[in-house]
Amino acid sequence: MELISWKDRFPKDGRVFETENGILYNADCLDILPQIPKKSVDLILTDPPYGIGSDEKNGIDYKDEFYDVDKVSKLFYDILKNNARAYVFTAQKTFIQVANGFTNSGFHLHQTLIWHKKNLIGGSKKRMYDFTSSYEQILNLHKGSPKPLKKEGLIDVLEYPQPQSNYTKDRRCHIHQKPYRLIEFLVYVSTQENDIILDPFAGSGTIAVAAERLGRRWIAVEIQPGYCTIAKERIKYYASIKPLFGFGG
Ligand SMILES: C[S@@+](CC[C@H](N)C(=O)[O-])C[C@H]1O[C@@H](n2cnc3c(N)ncnc32)[C@H](O)[C@@H]1O
Repeated sequence: MELISWKDRFPKDGRVFETENGILYNADCLDILPQIPKKSVDLILTDPPYGIGSDEKNGIDYKDEFYDVDKVSKLFYDILKNNARAYVFTAQKTFIQVANGFTNSGFHLHQTLIWHKKNLIGGSKKRMYDFTSSYEQILNLHKGSPKPLKKEGLIDVLEYPQPQSNYTKDRRCHIHQKPYRLIEFLVYVSTQENDIILDPFAGSGTIAVAAERLGRRWIAVEIQPGYCTIAKERIKYYASIKPLFGFGG
């Protein structure tokens, strides 16, 4: 008799890599999300395109195009279990649009967390007409009343260096790659083992790597085949490296 896996409830087409804990799709998330069962996911943690930059440096044909916030946020609301949370990264210039889109879809904007890129103070360009940006915002969105976080007294400013291409540990292979330790921290404090985490804008797969390492289940979607290859290699490589904080900036 064949055992039914948790993965059987999720779409079959578009899968390019799987582990016992997760599925990576090479697809447009607007095709995959409507096929995901309603109220099936414990946490959405995602870093959608900000609509800035290209990625020639990593040899990927990628132009960052802003996403359909209204459509995506409605799909997120349906897919997320009741009394669960979603963390969504935003750029400063799109913050209001993203916050409005998600709250219009039913989410409560509970908090805005700050990722302070402590290695970028000063930036590479001299700016005379405004302030150099050294942070990004992460919306902490609630559907109902989520379970408490795993630790007390956490602070809403999270300081982690941005990955760089010359780092030997958390090396940058995606223009908008997020620090592994930041992502791991959010996953750790917000979920339990075997919870299902969704990242429909996976890039180089940082969220899937953290989920895999922490024994969470994960669904990741990435439209760009080159990034899928990078994500797959990172998940395979980093999942096997011990101890837990064996790499970082
Ligand atoms: C900001 S990046 C994510 C970076 C990721 N957090 C990391 O650490 O590598 C956003 C990603 O979303 C992907 N993307 C854009 N539109 C998409 C769509 N409709 N479906 C799936 N992926 C999409 C882009 O190719 C890009 O890799």
